[in-house]
Amino acid sequence: MFNAEVYKRRRSALRKQMTSGIALILGNSEASMNYPANTYHFRQDSNFLYFFGLDFPDFAGVIDFETGQDIIFADDLSIDDIVWMGDQPSVRERALLAGVENTRPFSKLAEYISEAIKKGKKVHFTPPYRAVNKMLLESLTGIRAAVVRDHASTPLIRAIIALRSVKEPCEIEELEKAAVAGYEMQVKAMKMAKVGRWEQTIAGTIEGISLAHGGVPSFPIILSQNGQILHNHSHNNILEAGRLVVCDCGAESLLHYASDHTRTTPVGGKFTDRQKEIYEIVLAANNATNKNTKPGITYQQVHLMACKIIAQGLSELGLMKGNVDDAVCEGAHALFMPHGLGHMIGLDVHDMEDLGQTLVGYDEETRPIKQFGTEALRFGRKLEPGFCLTNEPGIYFIPALIDAWKKENKHADFINYDLVEKYKDFGGIRLEDMLLVTESGCRIIGERPPITVEEVEAIAATE
Ligand code: GLY
Ligand code: MN
Repeated sequence: MFNAEVYKRRRSALRKQMTSGIALILGNSEASMNYPANTYHFRQDSNFLYFFGLDFPDFAGVIDFETGQDIIFADDLSIDDIVWMGDQPSVRERALLAGVENTRPFSKLAEYISEAIKKGKKVHFTPPYRAVNKMLLESLTGIRAAVVRDHASTPLIRAIIALRSVKEPCEIEELEKAAVAGYEMQVKAMKMAKVGRWEQTIAGTIEGISLAHGGVPSFPIILSQNGQILHNHSHNNILEAGRLVVCDCGAESLLHYASDHTRTTPVGGKFTDRQKEIYEIVLAANNATNKNTKPGITYQQVHLMACKIIAQGLSELGLMKGNVDDAVCEGAHALFMPHGLGHMIGLDVHDMEDLGQTLVGYDEETRPIKQFGTEALRFGRKLEPGFCLTNEPGIYFIPALIDAWKKENKHADFINYDLVEKYKDFGGIRLEDMLLVTESGCRIIGERPPITVEEVEAIAATE
């Protein structure tokens, strides 16, 4: 945990934005895997971690905006629990670590919430994403589980987004720690990208690196020679010469801050000329993003700039044609880059996505662009110092998408389908770093994993 002062400061910052009612911040429970006592890895709710830091199941926190009181609801261990799990600090001892003096048994939460409702106090909560918490909220508030997400508090969501968007120095340190594991995972995957190797062997090995650093992967590892499948969690192929391995992975730090890097390695370690040509375009888009990310510009502008670099590069190879600005304006580049340039990163790899992607990534001034490809940009609004984002341009040759667009002759003024046909066996390339927006620009979080053609080939040549 961070120092108790960190959590107290965050709760008091929330109080400055919220004037009435109470915030009910539910922690998570254990989730059973195949029978009740055999559970998945426990992951605490990120909002609960942010305000209370207590990484244990079955805790709930209340922040009362009217009385100024904070309360932790949780149960001390029974003698049975102690027999199986060992003695552990009391709820009170734990709550003090988060600067909370008031604790009550979990069973008292229902009474407390019902009293608050009776007194006419608004109960603010974030949108629950787990069935048990939807059911718990139903029992606490009377709002049916099926619709309880619709009753989440927009003022609370907006206030949390405002706080969590700007990372504190202690949070940046955690992101840097997560990036250390992420760096090692990428380098290991590069070294292992050899002909005849099962993808799962690499995925399992790098998952082990994350675990050895003390945290689980920050999301299910994406690793495949079918890198044209953007989020490919199947690792069942045997690597073949001439293919490219896309490895998109990250680790959680001990305090659950995420890393997220993507690198693309030629199987066997040597890029072909054709691979190099596409790789250099993606790298140019990634480098230009580093250069242009700074306070005051919107990430939507940076995204469109990166897309133009991609369209320009593809035009130079004859895969696209026509005016680059028009091509990107009309969305023709999305045949090759159908996703966004990046997302915020923090306690969640897609930071705060539980609070609503549009509320996190957009505001009144910058609205999402409803166009295939660009609509997948998770974060588009104006950048501020302390924001942490990913920079992850890519170029993919997705046979089904190529066929679908070609059939409609879609954007035929901008796409040279005859040549694109010849790239259907290419796969994909994505290059992803994590950026911290500074006062004057941005910097990469953690050491940048090898990224130039020369750097990747040099690493991939080793074991
Ligand atoms: N690294 C996975 C993603 O950004 O969606
Ligand atoms: Mn990412």
